[in-house]
Amino acid sequence: MSPSATPHPPPQPTRRLQQLSAHMATNGTHKTTSFAADVVPKAPEDPLFGLMTAYRADTFEKKVDLGIGAYRDDNAKPWVLPVVKKADAVLRSDPNLDHEYLPIAGLQQFTSASQKLILGKNSPAISEKRVASLQTISGTGAVHLGALFLKKFYRPGQTSSVYFSSPTWANHNQIFSNVNLPITTYPYFSAKTRGLDFDGMLSSIKSAPEGSIILLHACAHNPTGVDPTQDQWKQVAEVMKARNLFPFFDCAYQGFASGDLARDGWAISYFVEQGFELVVAQSYAKNFGLYGERAGCFHFVAAPASDATDVATRVASQLAILQRSEISNPPAYGARIASLVLNDPALFAMWEEDLRTMSSRIIEMRKALRSKLEELGTPGTWNHITDQIGMFSFTGLTEAQVQKLRADSHIYMTKNGRVSMAGINTNNVQYVAEAINKIVRATN
Ligand SMILES: Cc1ncc(COP(=O)(O)O)c(C=O)c1O
Repeated sequence: MSPSATPHPPPQPTRRLQQLSAHMATNGTHKTTSFAADVVPKAPEDPLFGLMTAYRADTFEKKVDLGIGAYRDDNAKPWVLPVVKKADAVLRSDPNLDHEYLPIAGLQQFTSASQKLILGKNSPAISEKRVASLQTISGTGAVHLGALFLKKFYRPGQTSSVYFSSPTWANHNQIFSNVNLPITTYPYFSAKTRGLDFDGMLSSIKSAPEGSIILLHACAHNPTGVDPTQDQWKQVAEVMKARNLFPFFDCAYQGFASGDLARDGWAISYFVEQGFELVVAQSYAKNFGLYGERAGCFHFVAAPASDATDVATRVASQLAILQRSEISNPPAYGARIASLVLNDPALFAMWEEDLRTMSSRIIEMRKALRSKLEELGTPGTWNHITDQIGMFSFTGLTEAQVQKLRADSHIYMTKNGRVSMAGINTNNVQYVAEAINKIVRATN
């Protein structure tokens, strides 16, 4: 009999079916799902992306988005870097461009240029062939690959915790707990000075058990915008060396913070110079504006030793196996754009100019917001707005103030009072300052 000729059973009334299924479920004879609510409870929406949805749905004309960490120009619009447009045009007109798979470790010209960018082109670690690099799904993928690698291979049989700054980028918690690495925190932000709690940071790192992994933001700390000085980095390195701690650098804002690539990467180069074995997660989302293209790199640097090349080669081979099982091979487009720029001196110079455009606009907006708040006589001190660096400012606004700013003035920021400075521009800085002034006065 053909399928179309199969006689259909007479339709059952829906109510009867529901009764039957409820009866069977309560009798334990039939399970409708293996994922009951006590096993798979409904997870809360990602706070940042939830904020973005709420902002988009808001129809108020003067609404301001200070939530998401993506650069905006002075008209609050996404900015495609001129150098990216140029590289894109080169790529598109290349008759040999195809859509084949990249190798498991990614585009070789991209990963080798990325090593030079992050470690310095004259880094002995590169010339001594003790760096293993894999292209990843942007910075998040690099942090994840590093976490996975450490969970599997770092000090097997011993429980080593990873130490995060308090606070840190929220995703660090999710990524490291997903691979079951125990998490501890070290003090970082002083609510009193709205600057670095350096004594707290150093003494916590000093008392970390030997072998602990210390996660460090290379520059433009997210969410606080507070970075150690070079002298403070030196002290951190000294303590970490003495305690045999393992550095895990997360670098999502190189060149974006100060506009100077070498300055923003200084801490990593310094630690490499000091002979650490370490890892680095590198993102090109912010500094190339390639957010959605997911271009990033993971680097393992072996300490200088006669067998260092062998260490790096073995590590690279295991990283490749992890990568193969997770993503098979990384996406090509963003890496091709970045690679063109990183390997061409003229495009590279143009990129540096674009970085200065972004970082200096943000620095200008920091100055403008601070001076407007001071002009208005807003209670409290506001020097931290210009002392902090990079995409974010940790304003010190309370959760209640943040909620009121959103309800009264349609200004959106994360509930911890973090402001994405890229959302501020010459058209809205007065509005933002007046709204903050009003809330601070009302709740002081
Ligand atoms: C500290 C930190 N690490 C990593 C990332 C990773 O970003 P992406 O995966 O977009 O490169 C971010 C982005 O906000 C970040 O702030």
